Amino acid sequence: MDVLTPNRIIRMGMGHWPARTLQTAIKFGLFTVLGPGGMTGEQLRGALDLAQRANPDFFDALVALGMLDREGDGPLAIYSNSKEAAAFLDKASPTYIGGFLEMNHDRFYPFWVDLGAALKTGKPQNETKHRGGPVFDTIYADPERLEQFLAAMSGVSTGNFQALAAKFDFAPYTTLCDIGGAEGILSMMVARAHPHMRCTSADLPVVWPIAQKKIAAAGLSDRVGTAVIDFLNDPLPRADVITMGMILHDWNLETKRMLIAKAYEALPPGGAFIVVEQLIDDARRHNISGLLMSLNMLIEFGDASDYTGADFNAWCLDAGFTRSEVLPLAGPTSAAIAYK
Ligand SMILES: C[S@@+](CC[C@H](N)C(=O)[O-])C[C@H]1O[C@@H](n2cnc3c(N)ncnc32)[C@H](O)[C@@H]1O
Repeated sequence: MDVLTPNRIIRMGMGHWPARTLQTAIKFGLFTVLGPGGMTGEQLRGALDLAQRANPDFFDALVALGMLDREGDGPLAIYSNSKEAAAFLDKASPTYIGGFLEMNHDRFYPFWVDLGAALKTGKPQNETKHRGGPVFDTIYADPERLEQFLAAMSGVSTGNFQALAAKFDFAPYTTLCDIGGAEGILSMMVARAHPHMRCTSADLPVVWPIAQKKIAAAGLSDRVGTAVIDFLNDPLPRADVITMGMILHDWNLETKRMLIAKAYEALPPGGAFIVVEQLIDDARRHNISGLLMSLNMLIEFGDASDYTGADFNAWCLDAGFTRSEVLPLAGPTSAAIAYK
């Protein structure tokens, strides 16, 4: 017989303890400092310039959380990165995703303290709370924040874009334009997996040189171009496939519909409009990440929100598209695809 316990409630309500421990370890570069080697607690404490009190509690908590391995017990025990940490939290790894959690440490965590205020007022609780102005202007005014934001997006999106490149049939198409393409990762993943595709990553002017550098470093400049666009004011470049990764969820319904209409205009008949998002399930019961992401959009933008595949379908049919479908990608993320 199942016994009712409050364990799940307590674990959920205390979620900030493990989250903050992990975010702080990433922020300190702990997993990068360890790299492929091992250190005693005292060596690790010294390398991170922490107080005596940090050792061994901080490190053993990370062992219990599965982020560090520990060989032996006591002061001579050797700490090393767990397999997961080595793959995703050491900056030397090509699959590093820590940027997203660094941004959580610096931005989302302090903003989420004001979730109550967001729910009561419907207003953003981020940098714009006291200063006002558009969110991207505020984040992008500081070069460090700009780079952190773009690296965070790449970290969290790369797996989804790889899955899109593997699962979607690009054979009928030859050109793709990724709107709000940030560092150009989606375009690079598609170009790498489909040598017949020519892709363009379009974003705001400050993002352009960063994307160019990344694409050149990947040796893909011959098939991946960059374009400057302000999608709120400009028409979208013409292409067989128009993609938007985590773009529509940043905006209110009116702007979402405006961007969908622009995508429709830019596509030829038969063309595909693909959004990549943590799509909420149609019943709005299961995709916890998608539902919490939507609360994060309240905190970031106020009137912006995530949406379901059914919402997307309805908006796209209104805009003239013939049909749409949902393609699950990695984890809680899906692609929703509308065909002209
Ligand atoms: C949430 S990020 C998504 C980045 C990337 N597509 C992904 O899924 O990882 C939103 C992107 O939209 C871009 N963006 C915001 N406002 C824009 C505008 N008015 N015109 C063009 N790009 C814009 C930002 O610079 C940023 O790269």
